[in-house]
Amino acid sequence: MSKNSYSSPGRSELYLKYHPKYSDDVARYVINYPKGELKENEKLDLMIEVGCGTGQATNVFAPFFKQVLATDVSPEQVRVAAKVTGFNHVTYSVTSAEDLPFEDSSEDLVLICLSAHLYDLPKFFAEAQRVLKPGGCIAVIGYAMKGVSRAEPGQPVHDVSQLYTDFIVAGSKEPTSLLHDDLYKYKKIFNLMPWSDKTRNDNFKIELEMESRELEDLEKSYGVYEIYERRYMEKIKNGENNVSKSIGLAEGLRKLVGVKYGDDIKLKLIYEVFVLTARVH
Ligand SMILES: C[S@@+](CC[C@H](N)C(=O)[O-])C[C@H]1O[C@@H](n2cnc3c(N)ncnc32)[C@H](O)[C@@H]1O
Repeated sequence: MSKNSYSSPGRSELYLKYHPKYSDDVARYVINYPKGELKENEKLDLMIEVGCGTGQATNVFAPFFKQVLATDVSPEQVRVAAKVTGFNHVTYSVTSAEDLPFEDSSEDLVLICLSAHLYDLPKFFAEAQRVLKPGGCIAVIGYAMKGVSRAEPGQPVHDVSQLYTDFIVAGSKEPTSLLHDDLYKYKKIFNLMPWSDKTRNDNFKIELEMESRELEDLEKSYGVYEIYERRYMEKIKNGENNVSKSIGLAEGLRKLVGVKYGDDIKLKLIYEVFVLTARVH
């Protein structure tokens, strides 16, 4: 995947609208990791977030810190994140994960959400080790879409694991990237974390409701969309007649819940969240 998959006009706005925000529970779990349970109104000093996107985690973690430096390699993602943030103590900048412009031993928490699979991990982990205070923590968070149902209560939930994996793989540049084997739960990434004091928690979930007519925009909001679309169009040009069955997140989700293109039905998407944390000594 290119370092900036969000350069097409409007992609970051779609990212902001359709990618889920992390829950308060996830933030509380992570911020209690460095020093044990924080007291009411107690704040940690400094967090940096790498690959912040349009602020899906930044704005949930910001209330627990005196200062937050949120960074992303994509100027478009940073521009949109800065436009919608509600916090004066959050500063945004364009920075690459592998070369962090921050002082040694300066941070309480380094946070990375849904982007570790895109980094040169040995370089990034070395940078995280350098900028964290002794006793500071790194949190690597990811999620994968797991289920879809109609939004009314009591509706069956359909497993979307294969559909989601096929979509991500169809749009990924590197056939050997960590993501392909590791889409569910970042198992390899956890093993690569070079700290012995590390743990994982796979018990968090996010639920997101949207209208079925929005599914095409959800699909377009993904960083993998450009490559996915190019490959899809090439298949059509080459006359492959099973194209519509092979890939297509929006179409696949509609089929699972029995909704036709053009119908306007409220759907619920369910994401499994995994949180990897390590303490740096
Ligand atoms: C899938 S988005 C995740 C955004 C947000 N953190 C979230 O949880 O929704 C991945 C982000 O990582 C950024 N990114 C990719 N490679 C990067 C790198 N080497 N350094 C910093 N950011 C990077 C992308 O620009 C993108 O905004």
